[in-house]
Amino acid sequence: MPTSNKSSGKFRRAKARHLLFTTGPNKLSGGRLFRKHFDQSINLHNVTIETPKWPTAFDGLRIGHVSDFHLGDLMPINRALRAVELLKTQEPDIVVCTGDVVDLYVDGASPLLEALAAIDAPLGTMLVLGNHDELDCDRTLTTMAKNAGVQILRDASCRINHRGNTLNIAGIDWAKTSKQCRAKVKSVCNEETHLLLSHNPKAFRVASELGVPLTLSGHTHGGQVAMPNRKGANLAVARGYTAGLYEKNDSRLFVTVGVGAWFPLRVNCPAEVALITAKTTG
Ligand SMILES: [Fe+2]
Repeated sequence: MPTSNKSSGKFRRAKARHLLFTTGPNKLSGGRLFRKHFDQSINLHNVTIETPKWPTAFDGLRIGHVSDFHLGDLMPINRALRAVELLKTQEPDIVVCTGDVVDLYVDGASPLLEALAAIDAPLGTMLVLGNHDELDCDRTLTTMAKNAGVQILRDASCRINHRGNTLNIAGIDWAKTSKQCRAKVKSVCNEETHLLLSHNPKAFRVASELGVPLTLSGHTHGGQVAMPNRKGANLAVARGYTAGLYEKNDSRLFVTVGVGAWFPLRVNCPAEVALITAKTTG
């Protein structure tokens, strides 16, 4: 078993934040905060994304996009499995998860990864890691994903052959800064890349420069608190791409607000699983 990072400063700081913003306030509220949080529904978000650069052979591809489960205190396994079940009813052609499978501890992630694989999408289930996935032990999570039948892209790309056509997918590990994103995206994308998976939406800056048709991200949770009917006006103010669809030339970015949360509050920003229909206008 690979060694965990539990003794690292990063893990300890994340645990302290969890106590301060999540378990502590919940205790003070007598458990009311968690109960209210668990009462909130997880929505299905249908999105159509069009670009002339999307490959004609995959016109109309239905991508099931989930992100930021944060399995742990705020996401018991049964709630996570309900979200996966909701996506399964949509029969997506491919399933992608853009990271933060777990909140702190990797223990217990296998049933969720197995459920994502069991959607049994014809083009498979893909995963990239988020910042929270690295807190405890990214290598254990990687092994869990592989054992579950989930293809994990760690600064890597793959070719999916389907009915004689090829879909090129690239995925990067967590990268915090634009500069780190730039280096990673440049190492895995080329002019043939159709789809980039990156936990951090900042990767879109370089992906759009390279002409990647579609980038899918998470990480922001849409700030978890947004203005009514304005997903883009939210608490994730320090970030450029916070929620929803963005365009630059012929490249597109979709940032899902995610399934889970890192503190027990969501206002005008409901948890979601996304079903994306990717279309070409070429
Ligand atoms: Fe997250």
